[in-house]
Amino acid sequence: MTSPLGKDLLGLEHLSAEQISLVLDTAEPLKEISERTIKKVPTLRGATIVNLFFEASTRTRTSFEFAEKRMSADTVNIAIAASSVSKGETLVDTARNLEAMRIDMVVIRHQSSGAARFLAERIESNVINAGDGTHEHPTQGLLDLLTLRQRFGTLKGKRVCICGDVLHSRVARSNIWGLTKLGAEVAVCGPRSLLPSAIEQMGVHVFDRIEQAIEWADALNVLRLQLERMQAGYIPSLREYNRVFGVTRERLDRAPRDILILHPGPMNRGVEIDSDVADGPHSVILEQVTNGVAVRMAVLYLLAGNSPRLAEAAKGGA
Ligand code: CP
Repeated sequence: MTSPLGKDLLGLEHLSAEQISLVLDTAEPLKEISERTIKKVPTLRGATIVNLFFEASTRTRTSFEFAEKRMSADTVNIAIAASSVSKGETLVDTARNLEAMRIDMVVIRHQSSGAARFLAERIESNVINAGDGTHEHPTQGLLDLLTLRQRFGTLKGKRVCICGDVLHSRVARSNIWGLTKLGAEVAVCGPRSLLPSAIEQMGVHVFDRIEQAIEWADALNVLRLQLERMQAGYIPSLREYNRVFGVTRERLDRAPRDILILHPGPMNRGVEIDSDVADGPHSVILEQVTNGVAVRMAVLYLLAGNSPRLAEAAKGGA
C-alpha cells in the first residue's frame, strides 16, 4: 500500500492541489477526536515515531506529539542538547541509529534549509518536515489552509496577504505554494528589505503599505519578525516597524470588509501585531492551533499507508 502523499512530507511545493485537498479532507473528521473525553483512536498502534527538533518549538512539537499520541503511536522526543548531536554526531548518523531501533517515522525541525530532504533521501523511515531553515513548514501551511477553508468554504478567489518578514519565513513559502495551488489570490506586504527579491515570480502581488494590503485582502497572515535570523539592518527599529507595518485595530477598523487575521506564532505583540487584534474578533489564531493537531493526525495517517509495517495499523481507520 503506497501513501497518496509519497514516502515523505517535505513541503507543499511538490504536492498537487488534489494531494493538499486530500490532507484537508482527511483532517476535517479527525478534529472530532480531540473533542472526546478519551482522545484516542488505535489507528497508529504499533508505530514508533521520533520527534527530532534541532530548533525551539512550542506549537509544532506539542501538536505533533498530541497527534501521535491521540492515534496511539509510540513517540520519543529527542532533546538535541542532551543527545549525541552535542558531541558532534551527524544528522544522518543520529537518524540511522534511531532506525536501528526500528522506528517508522521521523518528524524533523532543523535550522538548515534542505535538512528534511537530506535526511529523507538517506533513511527508509517516513520523514515529515516540521520546518527547515527558511525553506518550508508544510504542516503549518496545511493548518493555515484548513483554517481559511473552514471560514470561507473555499479558497478559490479568496485574497490572502502574507505580511511582514517574508524573507526569513518558511511559513510564507508553504502558504504561497498551498494557497496558489488551491486557487487563492496571494499577496505579500512588508519592507522591501524583508521581501525576497524575486518574490513576484512565485505569482504573488506585492504591497509596500499595510493599508493597501488591508484594503485588498480577505485575510492577513501576519508573520513574526524573526529577529534571531536577522544579522543587522533589516529594519530601523521595532517601534518604527510597528508604526509603519503593524497590524493595529485602527488600521483594521478602516478595512472595507470583514478580514480574518492569522498568525503562525509565536507572536511579537506590539511589533507585527497589536494585542487587541491578536485577541480580537477578527483573529483565528487559536483556531489555527486547534487545527494543527488534526492536520498532523491526517499527515501521519496518510503517510502511514506508505510504510509496510504501518499499513495494517492504518487500515483500522480513525
Ligand atoms: N508556528 C510554529 O512553528 O510555532 P513553533 O515554533 O512554536 O513550533
